[in-house]
Amino acid sequence: MLIMAAGMGTRMRSDTPKVLHPICGRALLRWPITAAKEAGIDRVVVICSPDRQVKGSLPDWVKMVEQPEALGTGDAVRCAQAHIPDDSDVVILSGDHPLITAETIRELVEEHRRRDAVATVATVEFDDPGSYGRIIRGSNGEFSKIVETKIAGDASEAELAIKEVNTGTYCFKGAQLLQELGKLEADNAQNELYLGDVLPSLGVAGERVIAHKIDDCEFAFGINTRVDLAKVSEIAQERILQELMLAGVTIVDPRTTQIDAGVKIGTDTVIEPFSIIRGESEIGSGAVIGPATTIESSRVGDRSTVVHSYLVECNVGEECSVGPFTYLRPGAELGEGVKAGAFVEIKNSRIGAHTKVPHLSYIGDADVGKESNIGAGNITANYDGKQKHRTKIGDRVRSGVDTSFVAPVTVGDDSYTGAGSVIDEDVPEGALGISRASQKNIEGYAERKESENDKESET
Ligand code: UD1
Ligand code: CA
Repeated sequence: MLIMAAGMGTRMRSDTPKVLHPICGRALLRWPITAAKEAGIDRVVVICSPDRQVKGSLPDWVKMVEQPEALGTGDAVRCAQAHIPDDSDVVILSGDHPLITAETIRELVEEHRRRDAVATVATVEFDDPGSYGRIIRGSNGEFSKIVETKIAGDASEAELAIKEVNTGTYCFKGAQLLQELGKLEADNAQNELYLGDVLPSLGVAGERVIAHKIDDCEFAFGINTRVDLAKVSEIAQERILQELMLAGVTIVDPRTTQIDAGVKIGTDTVIEPFSIIRGESEIGSGAVIGPATTIESSRVGDRSTVVHSYLVECNVGEECSVGPFTYLRPGAELGEGVKAGAFVEIKNSRIGAHTKVPHLSYIGDADVGKESNIGAGNITANYDGKQKHRTKIGDRVRSGVDTSFVAPVTVGDDSYTGAGSVIDEDVPEGALGISRASQKNIEGYAERKESENDKESET
């Protein structure tokens, strides 16, 4: 299979190649590749421009060929000639049609084979056919040719009125396509080689060229501008949410929920409104996410709740309670049954099972054991201005409110720290670490203050 993905994508007005713009977290080009794989196609060749960063974003089983100059879709396919089999069929897709599905690819190939066609082009009907190529049929209804409409000059008024369009999705017999490719010419309004132009000549030798109309017209939405990008993203998002719901996930308000392609969510998990789950995230079963939570490339275990929080590249175990207003940063690893509460930030730290960090804390570069309770307002001073250091807090530790742990420092199992302590030396197992000035009470202070005020008002 070939995917055409070269060309400037000028209508996007972007420094990023068009086919790398994301739809629900996945590059445009990845969508047809994923559909091909689902359809059982394992030889995929992407045609792209040499000056672009496409290569690095392809899966390694996909081959790439370069089209030195974007001289049209016909030229693109010419550049991939070496990959067109001369003894079997080749499917050609446009890289800017992310809504293509495995079913549509299968339907196209089946129809092509069933009718023993030399070429089959997938078409749809649009009320507003815009700048798509039009399908011209003869009086008998058989396919005749495609006329391009992107710029004036190729299509007549009557042709422009036609609603059946070319979706840029084809199936060819390889050998015959190879023969016709060589004959393409650029005598048209865009001075390009149009791939569709091979179709009429393929039909002349008594061979069958068919235009197969597909009912589901959404796959035909090509992306040329950022307006198209938003329109297609909306449909792609709807599909992702529907698939999750049908698989047993409750999405309370699909209109305010965004979930990237490829995110995994277990059954009976509830996604509350205004939640966003991106990247390679995985949420277990029976969890509650949101309202108003963002999760990026993270894992959340079964039966955990994450409310009003922001999670990036972290790992939350089973039965945890996170939020509201918790910020879990890369490398935060929460064991089973951990609580990370309001205004708590955790980064690059392991928090042992059933430990609680309930309020107003910053835990960075720390290893905290199990069943400990970190008092309100505890802070790890992990950075000395040059280097990061680790804090080690054992099991069953009870730290007082406002404890500062000045790393590197180790606090033993079953130990305590006094409220307001700056802990910059290790605390042995079972000890109380306390470091604060002892309290002094000034007796009769209020009375003295009052008499001073009286004197002042007399003068
Ligand atoms: C193309 C079709 C049009 C069809 C429409 C469907 C042609 C001439 N026109 O128009 O009939 O209705 O798609 O969306 O084929 N590409 C290359 N190399 C090039 C030019 C394009 O690889 O030199 C790739 C692009 O990356 C894109 C695809 O081919 O994925 C289509 O190119 P684009 O310029 O978007 O063509 P359209 O004007 O949309
Ligand atoms: Ca296009």
